[in-house]
Parts: sequence; C-alpha cells; structure tokens
Amino acid sequence: MAKKVILDCDPGSDDAIAIMLAMKDPSIDLLAITTVNGNRIVPKTTENALRVVQFMKSKVPVYRGCENPIFCNEIPGRKPGLPRVTLNDCHGDFLPLPEARITAEKEHAVFFLVKKFMESDGDISLASVGPLTNIAMALRIEPRIAGKIKEMVIMGGGHTGANASAAAEFNFYADPEAAKIVMDSPIPKVILPLDATWRACITEEQNQELHDLGTPEAIFASTMVQKRIDNLKVNDVSEHNFQLRHTPGTVASALLYRYDNDRAPIHDALAIAYLIDPTVITELADANVDIDTYGGPCDGRMVADFHNTKKFWDPITAKVALNADAEKFVEMLFRNLGKK
Ligand code: BDR
Ligand code: CA
Repeated sequence: MAKKVILDCDPGSDDAIAIMLAMKDPSIDLLAITTVNGNRIVPKTTENALRVVQFMKSKVPVYRGCENPIFCNEIPGRKPGLPRVTLNDCHGDFLPLPEARITAEKEHAVFFLVKKFMESDGDISLASVGPLTNIAMALRIEPRIAGKIKEMVIMGGGHTGANASAAAEFNFYADPEAAKIVMDSPIPKVILPLDATWRACITEEQNQELHDLGTPEAIFASTMVQKRIDNLKVNDVSEHNFQLRHTPGTVASALLYRYDNDRAPIHDALAIAYLIDPTVITELADANVDIDTYGGPCDGRMVADFHNTKKFWDPITAKVALNADAEKFVEMLFRNLGKK
C-alpha cells in the first residue's frame, strides 16, 4: 500500500521537484502540501506550490502556513530580515510555470496539520523540506501530534557543511527556534543534512538526459536543475567549493571530498526519495541532535552528537543521514519524471 505523506515546503526549485516526485511515484500517496516562509515569503511559496499542483493536473490540496519564523529577530545580535539568504539564489521569485488559477485551502496549514494528525491512525509520514516553523507551531498547539506522526523526514542542517552562513544550513538557519522545538520533540525523525544531499548530485550530462526524456515534468525539472547548476558555477564560493571531510563507514574521518562544477544537489527531492526507497541513503547514524539558537556565528547550526557524549542524560533524538546513492537517486528521478 502507498505511504501516506504530507509535504511541508517552501517552493523553491528543489521543493518543486520534490512535489513532482511525490506525485509521480506510486509508492507515495501525497495527502496535502503545506507551505511556509523560507526560500521566499509565504504568498510566493504558496503560489509556487499551487503552480506545481496545477501543472501536474493534481487535486492535492495546498494549505498556506506561517508568515514568519517563530522568534525571528528577537535574539540580540541575530541578523535582521528573513529570508536571510540571498547569496546563492537558485530559486527566483516565481517558478516558470503558468500563474495558478487554483487557490489554497481556507484553513491555516498549522491547524490542518494538528487536525489531520490527531484524527489519523498514526499512519501518516511527514516530509519537511523548508524551515520548520509550521511543525513547531503545530507541536506547541498540540504536543500529542508527536505520537501521531509515523515518521518525519527532514531536509535540513549540516554536520560538516553549511550553506546559509559559515555554520548553518538554510532551513535551520531560517528558523532556529522551530528547528530546536522539532529536534526536542519525540517525533521519530530522519534528518537529511547537506552531508547526504551533496552526495546525491545530478550532473549536467544526466540533466540533459532528463530533459531528453521529453515529458513536461522532466523538461521542467531539468530547467530547474540547470538553473541550480549555472548558479553554482557563478557563485564559486558556494557549496560546490566546499570540502567535505568524510569517509563512508565513519563519521569523523578525513577523506577530502570535493564537488565538481558540473553538478547540483536537489536537496528536497532526496527526502521524498528516502520515503520511496530508504536504501537511497547509504549511511544513517543515531545521534542526539541540537540546534544553536544563540544568535551568534553558529546561529541555526545543527549539532549532531554521534558519539552520544551525554548519553546518560540525553536521549538519541534522530537518525542522521551522512551519505547517499547518487545513481539510485537520479534513476528514481528519471523513472518517475520520465513516466508518460
Ligand atoms: C534547503 O534550502 C532551500 O533553499 C532548499 O529549498 C532546501 O530546502 C537546502 O539547504
Ligand atoms: Ca526547501
């Protein structure tokens, strides 16, 4: 039976591909999309989600979520203004799809999440690929939803890497308090940080093959991916220039890993890929995960304690992915987006 999934997102080029993958793969039953402030303000991320739904000729409902991060600029020293990342913009304001003629549901995403999970039999998974504001708010309103979420797959954070500041990944940096509330909750969590998503890049050559599959979904996805690749070429200070110290099989080893300029990650789609086939993640480690919320240089940073140094008083809070099978991921995209 197909997995019931709710997707919380902030489209966003990679969010758009995640939505399409969830709609196309028969093993996923996408129940709803909730939107959040993130890559853009929530009216824009909602419009973009609706554009994708319309493009896919889908009936999946879209619920508009939070306009602002929970705490936002209340922390002294925190940089003002959100979204706080513009350096490496591979999204644009609006997805290059026809303007939405369909509309979002009237109910707010947070109330929808509370109601849907509380009424469920605990059989719905949650994929979260934007800032965690909606989920944290839902947890504050009704903490019992934690026991109703079957599994939460989160794209966010970085163990060895960062892309929004020197220390933090975008989704956690955009709302550190929300990320902390979710980490501290007993929801069963799998986190896919940059360490995993950077290992699941699609190359320019593969992207051309994706385009050549010829379906509207494949062509649109490949346009998005090309934008991501081109953007990384221009911003050579970005994630492709990052040197990830990591050897498969160990967490703290020192093999130098370097990205080439001819590829890009599609971060959010990996969360859906994991729900379709968990073997797309090749290393998953238990950790106690915390988030820095102090407003300083490490603001929003994910701190994953794989050594579980505090094991006598801090529980394991999540499984954290550290590596991925890029070939399997790309094959999954081809198989689904190329489907007539
Ligand atoms: C995350 O940040 C956003 O820009 C992407 O959509 C993705 O969810 C990657 O750090
Ligand atoms: Ca996103």
